[in-house]
Amino acid sequence: MPDDLRHLAEEDTSGDERMSNHSSNPHFRDILEAHLSRRGALLGSLGAAVAAMFVRPGEAEAQRVAGEGPSAPGPIGFRPVPVSSEDRIVVPEGYTARVLIPWGTPITGSMPAFRPDNTAAEQAQQIGQHHDGMHFFPIEGRDPYQGSSEDGLLVVNHEYIEPRFLLSTVAAGQRVRDGRLPVPEGGRDPDHVRKEINAHGVSIVRIRKQANGEWHVVPDRRNRRITAATPMEIAGPVRGSDFVRTKYSPDGTRTRGTINNCAHGVTPWNTYLTCEENWAGYFVNRTQVDQKPDLPREHERYGVPTGQSRYNWDQVRGGGDEFERFDATTKAASPVEDYRNEPNCFGWVVEIDPFNPNSTPVKRTALGRFAHEGVEFAPVREGRPIVAYAGDDAVNEYIYKFVSARPYHAATANGSLLDEGTLYVAKFNPDGTGEWLPLVHGQGPLTGRNGFRSQAEVLVNTRAAADAVGATKMDRPEWIAVDPRDGRVYCTLTNNTRRTPEQTDPANPRPRSQFGHIIRWREANDDHTSTRFTWDIFVLAGPPNDSRTLSGQPLGPDNIFACPDGLWFDKDGRLWIQTDIGEAEQLRGALAPFGNNQMLCANPVTGEIRRFLTGPRGQEITGVCTTPDGRTMFINVQHPGATTSAEDYAAGRYSSNWPDGGNSIPRSATVVITKNDGGVIGT
Ligand code: FEO
Ligand code: CA
Ligand code: CA
Repeated sequence: MPDDLRHLAEEDTSGDERMSNHSSNPHFRDILEAHLSRRGALLGSLGAAVAAMFVRPGEAEAQRVAGEGPSAPGPIGFRPVPVSSEDRIVVPEGYTARVLIPWGTPITGSMPAFRPDNTAAEQAQQIGQHHDGMHFFPIEGRDPYQGSSEDGLLVVNHEYIEPRFLLSTVAAGQRVRDGRLPVPEGGRDPDHVRKEINAHGVSIVRIRKQANGEWHVVPDRRNRRITAATPMEIAGPVRGSDFVRTKYSPDGTRTRGTINNCAHGVTPWNTYLTCEENWAGYFVNRTQVDQKPDLPREHERYGVPTGQSRYNWDQVRGGGDEFERFDATTKAASPVEDYRNEPNCFGWVVEIDPFNPNSTPVKRTALGRFAHEGVEFAPVREGRPIVAYAGDDAVNEYIYKFVSARPYHAATANGSLLDEGTLYVAKFNPDGTGEWLPLVHGQGPLTGRNGFRSQAEVLVNTRAAADAVGATKMDRPEWIAVDPRDGRVYCTLTNNTRRTPEQTDPANPRPRSQFGHIIRWREANDDHTSTRFTWDIFVLAGPPNDSRTLSGQPLGPDNIFACPDGLWFDKDGRLWIQTDIGEAEQLRGALAPFGNNQMLCANPVTGEIRRFLTGPRGQEITGVCTTPDGRTMFINVQHPGATTSAEDYAAGRYSSNWPDGGNSIPRSATVVITKNDGGVIGT
């Protein structure tokens, strides 16, 4: 996401959702006050209490040597690359990186070629903008991690858009930054808005490895674009509730579109989950009482704007239902005559069957409503519940896990397993233990008396429910990854410059954290359904004088990084870390030493980290997966050129011209990485 949209009005800083957690549930600091006599014990970046939260280096290794622990992760064999400010991809010696499916690549229908002035209808047949989470599904369609390593469906999220590049022939010569385009007299051109809507969502595209080692798009009946307008089902406890009844779906069972699709998940039954992150800003609610905004809790707690929406999709010449739905202002006598409930249809995890082009995507409401980064499943066990973890990426928000009510059976498992179960939120205790607190109607404070009259009301107001039970406010939880070797769960906490010194705690130890860290936990008895866990900090990111790895050493030239975001374990247990320094900070101030956003590879046992890749200018590196054999890796480059100033844009100078070069418009794209000797990536 753009981490800074300061040029927009305060209420519109929706790219990086504004802080909306004003709950009084305690920061750890308050808890700690009761336990620590020395008030200053946790201040500063590396206080003694923080150091204690690092597992003793070698502890896990010693376990392994004793034959009790899991096998060591696969070797990390490449030579690290230096930080970079160049406008290109850099990979280690012996590796090759090639561009695949940049924004605008035709994949379906009449296969219209990319042109800067493509119409909305053409965009709907092409790869969307701003690639994010993704997965390679082997073409056999049976198992998400087994099968062909040369032929498959690549499923890619498109998180958001940069209108000045999406509609460059409209914006050319104007001073526009990376937010919205100005609204002309009489409203926006409907085809421009439709193009923006169609550049969102998810792409499903068949790709195949050629004899020369390059990957190409293959025309296929399963190639598909899902956009911010695609009809979807609502499933789970919120389906049919009053919260989602709209003019489009008076019975509250359907909605249109998915937006701000950040990271993803892959179900054990071979479907794709796309996660709605910074969706609140796409709407506007101008309802007022006594000339003051009057928003329901389910809008206010998520930061739905009261003045102007992120891209002005409600401000369209001639109007029409497809655009008016982004205006959640109460206008009519009843909720089924307007779109006051439209924002309640967003903030969910959406299930897509990539192998069935006629399937309707399904919003799985039991997994909660928040700024979903991604969703990560624990390994499944026959006859046991499924468990999925998810972070809410906004300042001072929470980490969640879902445990299904019904057991998993490989022969019959499907998406309905995600419709019944318990959603928990994490509380990280200062002593290195933690608890999963259930968000269940009728339990604890989640009663009608406190405004939670049903499980639907709990889920639509997931954040408020988590506030009520006393969850721990985190430094913007991003991706979560489960170590296939020992089941430990890792979560990137990207940064949090709003945390005051008084609000620090052992799990979020740095005030005004610009650099972020990675936390990890182990469930009690190594059972992912447990309600207790122990945790420690895997790495504090930052420069050499303000960082710490598992071995107690600081980061150095081979591995300094900041703002960890993407996080993924390969099948051999290497941990891949991707960074997202916001465009306003890249190559500036305290973030300057880190260069362009990058990807690193870590050994979770020793804590060793090496820089594997650096990206072009202005972008973030995100999305990572490999073919089942581990010999082809796919990553995404999102929003190259986002650091272009308004003045430079008007002059036709972009901070990046990647990947096409020359003076071209920058385009988000997937990058295919192979090892020249045909080996496993990372070795
Ligand atoms: Fe979409 Fe939190 O990154
Ligand atoms: Ca992200
Ligand atoms: Ca991010």
